[in-house]
Amino acid sequence: MRIKFQNLKIQDIKLREQLHMCLEQSCDDGIYINGDDVFQFERMVAHYFSTSRACFVSSGSSALYLALKTLGIANGDEVIIPCMSWISTAHAVSRLGATPVFTEINRSFNMDICSLEEKISMKTKAIMPVHFGGIPAEMHLIMKLARERNLFVIEDASQSFGNELDGQMLGTFGDFGCFSLNPMKTFGALGEAGLVVSQNDKLINNLRQKIYSGLNNMELNHRGDNLQARFLKVLLENFGEKQKKLKIIFDYYKKHLNSQVELVGKKNNYIPYCINILVDQREAIEQEFGKREIEFKRLHVPLMVEHPCYRHNTSLPKSNEIAKKLLSLPYHQHLTENEVVEICSVINEACK
Ligand SMILES: Cc1ncc(COP(=O)(O)O)c(C=O)c1O
Repeated sequence: MRIKFQNLKIQDIKLREQLHMCLEQSCDDGIYINGDDVFQFERMVAHYFSTSRACFVSSGSSALYLALKTLGIANGDEVIIPCMSWISTAHAVSRLGATPVFTEINRSFNMDICSLEEKISMKTKAIMPVHFGGIPAEMHLIMKLARERNLFVIEDASQSFGNELDGQMLGTFGDFGCFSLNPMKTFGALGEAGLVVSQNDKLINNLRQKIYSGLNNMELNHRGDNLQARFLKVLLENFGEKQKKLKIIFDYYKKHLNSQVELVGKKNNYIPYCINILVDQREAIEQEFGKREIEFKRLHVPLMVEHPCYRHNTSLPKSNEIAKKLLSLPYHQHLTENEVVEICSVINEACK
């Protein structure tokens, strides 16, 4: 592909040196798990989020699973989630024997609040909003509803690390905030990793007891490792720079896409995880992208509710209509303005 959808290469020489040093240190001290770096990273993150505590785990899927399990979600319970996310949001619920109940989405691909209200039943135990593409779900309304109905809230903030809503970090509204830190994420490790944050010490302590199996604790292994924690400490120190670069790329899209093209999140100041547009001319644009070797995706369609294991769950016509128009565009730090201009010219031409 001439213009790649994603390019995760680290080109900054100083950053590469710092990361090499992490590996050198690990080879020197021979500490690969349970090291101080894990706890130091957790403290750094807790400070970053102004939360009381954080727990470093092996993936975003583990983060969600552990958060739900710690809140006692089990067989027979229902957890309400938007129909749009990476499928592990739903699987984390199912793995505990509970049922994911899908809501319609709005045009930012986030949980539709009217649909959420409709889906609350006697069996509902928790709401799990996803800040899709980095754009905040309507957390004030969700928290109000959760308080009124006595429901837990777990934020799947995997795609929104570092973004805020009205001055409050995403991931800090609910009982737990869960993050995937896999390399594709805005803030990602050099391998698999995940994170849980909470304002509640007791909840995080309970969750921590579940990250590794022991004689009194029949669990699987969900621990994050020391080398990734070392990398992540360095990457967090450099994260502001990465955010600035991504913002510039998003701004290029804002500048060069014609106003009639619906760019998701355009009016906001968030740093997106992915660049999504809603267009009627999707096939025509994709064809032209194909000819020009411009990589594209449809993140994450088909909707979870269309997946064979959830198809019986419900039908969500409004969300299906929105998903039909979704096109995800190339987005990474190394994209040039000329490349964005070319991508936008294809879209502008098709949408004339
Ligand atoms: C919204 C969302 N939830 C959960 C996950 C799962 O995270 P992981 O791949 O780290 O298990 C992802 C990552 O792909 C995601 O984007």
